[in-house]
Amino acid sequence: MLLRNPRLQKLIGGTFIEWLGIDMAARAEMLALMMHKDWNKLKLLRRARRERRSMVTNFESFIVHSIATGMAKAPGDIAEVGVFQGSTAKVICEAKGEKTFHLCDTFEGLPEPSEVEKHIEVKGRFACSIESIQKYLKDYKQLEYHKGFCPESVKGVLDNHKFCFVHLDVDLYQSTKECLEYFFPRLIPGGVVLSHDYSILPGVRQAFSEFCEGRQEQVIELPTTQCMLIKTTA
Ligand SMILES: C[S@@+](CC[C@H](N)C(=O)[O-])C[C@H]1O[C@@H](n2cnc3c(N)ncnc32)[C@H](O)[C@@H]1O
Repeated sequence: MLLRNPRLQKLIGGTFIEWLGIDMAARAEMLALMMHKDWNKLKLLRRARRERRSMVTNFESFIVHSIATGMAKAPGDIAEVGVFQGSTAKVICEAKGEKTFHLCDTFEGLPEPSEVEKHIEVKGRFACSIESIQKYLKDYKQLEYHKGFCPESVKGVLDNHKFCFVHLDVDLYQSTKECLEYFFPRLIPGGVVLSHDYSILPGVRQAFSEFCEGRQEQVIELPTTQCMLIKTTA
């Protein structure tokens, strides 16, 4: 509950202290993972954290990697909305096999926060240029970049695509809500939307709760800050 505290979020959000906290959690998690998980996978997670500033812990990127691996042979593309410096994108690139991977970001940082979160989020936070990501991920094939506010940036471009895995890491209510509305109908049956920050950011939580109202699919909360939705309808 401590990490849900709005004062604490405003105070440390996007700062070196937040990153330090994530880094410390990631180190502790790595020790736990080393007891029983494949070392090659752990080396990749460590590399992705060392090479770029990452806003996810090791348990969280482990889950991203596992879902991308599990979906590598399913039909449909993979998409990530919320790339920042490309840490989770790199993890997906390593797991995706031959799949097309869509990387969606404003590449100018967070859009305007809504009422529910404007006391903790700041427009422009997490800005990173598209050129820097393209350079970082230059060795991977089948990557498509979509710059701008998502889903506006992909409307008319990806409308006829199907997705097996969509990773949302957008921090904000409107971004989460609109991305769910755009991507969920385009998921294959059994396809997964995974979101970061569900248990700590009010906008993300509210967007999922509104989206799931009256639906067969309900939120699956994970022990990390993440949640997922599995499409159970055609
Ligand atoms: C916390 S960062 C993502 C962290 C990243 N996944 C990592 O590996 O560390 C959030 C990102 O979401 C992006 N973003 C938020 N809402 C967006 C939207 N509607 N369209 C495009 N990008 C968005 C911001 O530009 C920012 O780069």
